[in-house]
Amino acid sequence: MARDVIVACDFSDAKTTLDFLEMFEGGPVKRKPFVKIGMELFYAEGPSIVREIKSRGHKVFLDLKLHDIPNTVKKTMAVLSKLDVDITNLHAAGTTNMMKAALEGLTREDGTRPLLIAVTQLTSTDREALENELLIKEPMEDVVMRYALNAKNSGLDGVVCSPLEAQKVHEVCGAGFLTVTPGVRFAEGEKGDQKRVMTPHEARKAGSDYIVMGRPITAANDPVAAYHRALKEFLED
Ligand code: C5P
Repeated sequence: MARDVIVACDFSDAKTTLDFLEMFEGGPVKRKPFVKIGMELFYAEGPSIVREIKSRGHKVFLDLKLHDIPNTVKKTMAVLSKLDVDITNLHAAGTTNMMKAALEGLTREDGTRPLLIAVTQLTSTDREALENELLIKEPMEDVVMRYALNAKNSGLDGVVCSPLEAQKVHEVCGAGFLTVTPGVRFAEGEKGDQKRVMTPHEARKAGSDYIVMGRPITAANDPVAAYHRALKEFLED
């Protein structure tokens, strides 16, 4: 799949989500956004919201961040693969055994499967929590790169990471290993709770394969214009 802007639809019900996506129908430039469905919307509405959004022609990144024993994750991934999503994910902290089992579960009988990417360390986990709560003493960057390498060695397609880590991930895991990066803001935009951010243009320079943008698009006065601006800055500028 080509590089793209993924819109995080962090809404709590189907109506709000579908009304939002309706705005992208029609208009001069017809492009249906690649949609990220996270836990909030999935737990509220279940698989039907995924089927509905897919049936409207959107690509879907199902961001459920699985983390459990390998057998449970394998069986869950087998269920998710039937939803025909384009990307889904898990926590690399579940270990290579879990990641390999996930991949097996996700792969359909005909050999096809959605892309599978791993969360390395959540960007909300800081140095102090890593050291004092998780008892991981290595520097954060080393932890992220090791988890990314574990994901690659398990056969996964890429990682979710900060755009600031995208370049290093490509150096360590290869150019073809996907980096999907949230924490993207327009130059003059509010950062919200994202601490370390890049613009779409900077993320492109840093080598992000996909940028994930939520509030800069969903909360914009004109979401369609904001989406097209993100596309332009990420793909063209
Ligand atoms: O609104 P905003 O652009 O900050 O949305 C970013 C999206 O990416 C949210 O859905 C958030 O859950 C997700 N995400 C993130 N940081 C991570 C992993 C996922 O912001 N490390």
